[in-house]
Amino acid sequence: MSVVVERISTGVPGLDRILSGGIPKGFLVALAGEPGTGKTILCIHFVAVGLQVGDPCVYVTTEESRESVIRQAAQFGFDFQSGIRAGKLILIDALMREKDRWSLQSLDIEELVQKVIDAKKKLGRGHARLVIDSMSAFWLDRPAMARRYSYQVKRVLTRWNFTIMATTQYAITTAEAFGFGLEHIADGIIRFRKRLIGGRLCRFIICEKMRQTPHDLRAYEIDIIDGRGLVVKHPLRFRVEDTRLPYVVLSRILRAKRRAEEGLTPRDRQE
Ligand SMILES: Nc1ncnc2c1ncn2[C@@H]1O[C@H](COP(=O)(O)OP(=O)(O)OP(=O)(O)O)[C@@H](O)[C@H]1O
Ligand SMILES: [Mg+2]
Repeated sequence: MSVVVERISTGVPGLDRILSGGIPKGFLVALAGEPGTGKTILCIHFVAVGLQVGDPCVYVTTEESRESVIRQAAQFGFDFQSGIRAGKLILIDALMREKDRWSLQSLDIEELVQKVIDAKKKLGRGHARLVIDSMSAFWLDRPAMARRYSYQVKRVLTRWNFTIMATTQYAITTAEAFGFGLEHIADGIIRFRKRLIGGRLCRFIICEKMRQTPHDLRAYEIDIIDGRGLVVKHPLRFRVEDTRLPYVVLSRILRAKRRAEEGLTPRDRQE
């Protein structure tokens, strides 16, 4: 029996190929990784291609201002300002302006969900794309809530006919596993990594999980190019062992996660 999965483009052709054509419609995909590795830029591509194909888009930015996202998009040839003017794109920022309709007054998950629903009502019926950059901003001071908040976002917002890209960062140095809550809940995980090789910063991505998808299991080097954006190059030439976190670091992260979740009730831990 053949099952057809409807897929939507990520906006980066090389990544679509890794994902057998794109992200299954209605999924929540986590973009996880270190600073400066390309997560925000992939979100920009995802919205840019959405606007091209006529999907309404909601873009929540907690790290940067709306203007900064618009400027970054313009550097890659994407005109977000026109999308906003045409009523096809709503950019929501956080803690930037008082009493603004599209500004979150707090990093509160309920307020986020409500604001996104308001935006969806304004954009109209049908499938829409949602970016949340970043999700971890909502649990920075309460990392143990990551899984519960992620579940709430997925449960409520996928009912509103969204396909979602949400970014997450983690601070390995403090042994806090900020990302894991979202990663368990997400339908897919694209991991962004970086490494110095021969004195040059090398960035790469790997699809670690994509439900209902026979995806490529190799890590790919990526480039971020002025005027073009994120480009997927070739599979990594060095071994996975060269880039995997050392065992001792991984076990410290897992121990911290377990400790963080110990204080939670079974309801808090639900998926
Ligand atoms: N116009 C441009 N041309 C070339 N490279 C650029 C351009 N704009 C940004 N970059 C590169 O992209 C990087 C930023 O990528 P991005 O904002 O997607 O990172 P991120 O993974 O979202 O990081 P963070 O977790 O800190 O938000 C910059 O550090 C720079 O190397
Ligand atoms: Mg970013």
